[in-house]
Amino acid sequence: MKLKSRDILALEEMPREDMELILDTASSMKEIIYRPIKKVPTLRGKTVVTLFYEASTRTRTSFELAAKYMSADTVSIATATSSVQKGETLKDTARTLRVMGSDCVIMRHPVSGSCHFLARVLDIPVINGGDGMHEHPTQGLLDMFTMREKKGRLEGLRVAIIGDIYHSRVARSNIWGLKKMGASVVVCGPATLLPPEIEKMGVEATTRVEEAVKDADVVMVLRLQLERQQRGLFPSAREYSRLWGITRERLNLAKPDALLMHPGPMNRGIEIASEVADSPQSTIEDQVTNGVAVRMAILYLLLGGGEEK
Ligand code: CP
Repeated sequence: MKLKSRDILALEEMPREDMELILDTASSMKEIIYRPIKKVPTLRGKTVVTLFYEASTRTRTSFELAAKYMSADTVSIATATSSVQKGETLKDTARTLRVMGSDCVIMRHPVSGSCHFLARVLDIPVINGGDGMHEHPTQGLLDMFTMREKKGRLEGLRVAIIGDIYHSRVARSNIWGLKKMGASVVVCGPATLLPPEIEKMGVEATTRVEEAVKDADVVMVLRLQLERQQRGLFPSAREYSRLWGITRERLNLAKPDALLMHPGPMNRGIEIASEVADSPQSTIEDQVTNGVAVRMAILYLLLGGGEEK
């Protein structure tokens, strides 16, 4: 089985069959993570480059581990110590990496659409590790993988996404992905952090957190992205926490077996109370582990591991 697309840029444009193929492949990849010797020869001889213009712990490390577990070589470009600091353009940086023999580039960049640009100038697979406020497709896939693993299905789930929807590429990827997989989505946050006409994406929207969380199968809490805020979008972190923070009392309004998710990194005590973040309902660490499995599946499917096998 092959993916229809050469690149992983956005779940808005990814066919449902590709999402299902990635999730199914990740299910068989996951056991490798628990082996005493985490090494299979699938991508031997391939070179994977991570090019991150923004900070990351989970996405970059999990791509690198995923590549290493499949015996690919990895190169990590930290833009703070690269020739980007001398003014080299994105196109020249990317083409330089290509002519050195890279087989795949995973990029995170603050500008929405930058990964689509990169895919047009390179003849190798490009994976979006997060582009501005646009999408974070591999996060959406690992979140769906976690929901499917825990609930056995995506079809018919009620997923409440709480927080700074406006700035969130994680919310956009989850909305596109979950809608295609038959889940229903309600988004909630301060009116200033809900994009205008968000309902056109096929979701419900509310500013009342109790209404959003009620009877949810999944409560997904988003990080308050203080670095992307313009001033005055909400009164204060303390006020935000009081009105939209997910506490034990609020989580109790969801179904008794509801999952509590967060893509990380968390602002403990602001958008999420430690009491629930560390509770048995929390899937936050499962999401991190599943991120490695999903990224193994993506690299395997894009870099021809299937063909070699
Ligand atoms: N969830 C996520 O993208 O985390 P990082 O910013 O640490 O990669």
